[in-house]
Amino acid sequence: MAPHTRSAHSSSISTSLYRYAELAAGLTPRGELQRALIDPGATIIEGMPDDVDFSGAALAEFAAEYLGGLQKHPRRDNAHWTISTEEMSEVANSNMVAATRGATNAYDTSKQLCNHTDQSLYGTPGLLLAFHCVRGEGNNSLTDGFAVAAALKERHPEHYEQLTTYGMNAGRHLGYYRSGPLCFDTAHKVLQLDAEGGLARVQYHESYRTPLTLPYDVFPKYMAALDSFYALVHSGEFQTHLTLKKGECLVMNNWRTMHGRAGLAGKSRTIIGGTITREASTRRCARRRCKTPASRPTRRWACRAPDSSTWGRRPKRRRRRPPQPPSRCGVFGRRRQRSLSRRRRRRRRERRSAWSGPHHGPSLTAAVV
Ligand SMILES: [Fe+2]
Repeated sequence: MAPHTRSAHSSSISTSLYRYAELAAGLTPRGELQRALIDPGATIIEGMPDDVDFSGAALAEFAAEYLGGLQKHPRRDNAHWTISTEEMSEVANSNMVAATRGATNAYDTSKQLCNHTDQSLYGTPGLLLAFHCVRGEGNNSLTDGFAVAAALKERHPEHYEQLTTYGMNAGRHLGYYRSGPLCFDTAHKVLQLDAEGGLARVQYHESYRTPLTLPYDVFPKYMAALDSFYALVHSGEFQTHLTLKKGECLVMNNWRTMHGRAGLAGKSRTIIGGTITREASTRRCARRRCKTPASRPTRRWACRAPDSSTWGRRPKRRRRRPPQPPSRCGVFGRRRQRSLSRRRRRRRRERRSAWSGPHHGPSLTAAVV
């Protein structure tokens, strides 16, 4: 069944729509959903089950069934987070309490949030990012990071080269965990390439940028590249807006689609969100394709192979030789084998000669006599 689409204000990104009931009834192939999650990388699921007590159960169950399961941060009690326009100290695992909501603009919904990818300070950010709107409605901005990178490469190749060559210094101090502060100090590239030189991931959050440690002569070129990238990401050409309402879940390719938030002052909304790792997501796709034992993932999946290249390639099975006696192995073993054969042949000869020889039994002539 073809997905529905939601009209976008920009031609750079199209958001596909799926209905939860159709997915649950098997009317929408899971493979189609999983492909849409990656490309174009922004999907809305309508009619999600209610989450009346904001426990995150609806999102967790959906993620476990269709996406691969939510990633749990070791410092958090639950795998999901909650962001609300209201202070919600009674909600588990919420940062929306007075003491911490102003600590970062990521949680302070009255502040505008520039387009970014989540977990941009991680070595490997989560591949999928899901927002489940459990109350009210709010606006989000979206930008296709791959489209921006392609435009940058075409229009300003020198800027593209800067962002694919040098890392952007970034850092964050998270002081609201009970177990103690968590600090990041990184320099990941904004545009990351794969081994063949193709664009593999966009990893960017302007809010966490720290003073650059680039060589003096590189600095102005790099800043010009960052300015150019930022302008494209927030331009009307590439940025679009959507309204996420109660009962809808927005799932994005976090390596490609950048999201942001207009200030929500005067609006009321609660979203529950979480990430899905690349490994969990690809394993979910793998399980869907496991129709026959022959097509099951190979052992390379356990090594976290990055893509679908492992499909259908089973390691060659070597025919096992039955265990050999030690006498057959090695040069000395063969010599011993030969000597054993010689001895056996000699004994056989002796046995034969014993029955026919004159000294060991009655001869035919003697018996007649
Ligand atoms: Fe975010």
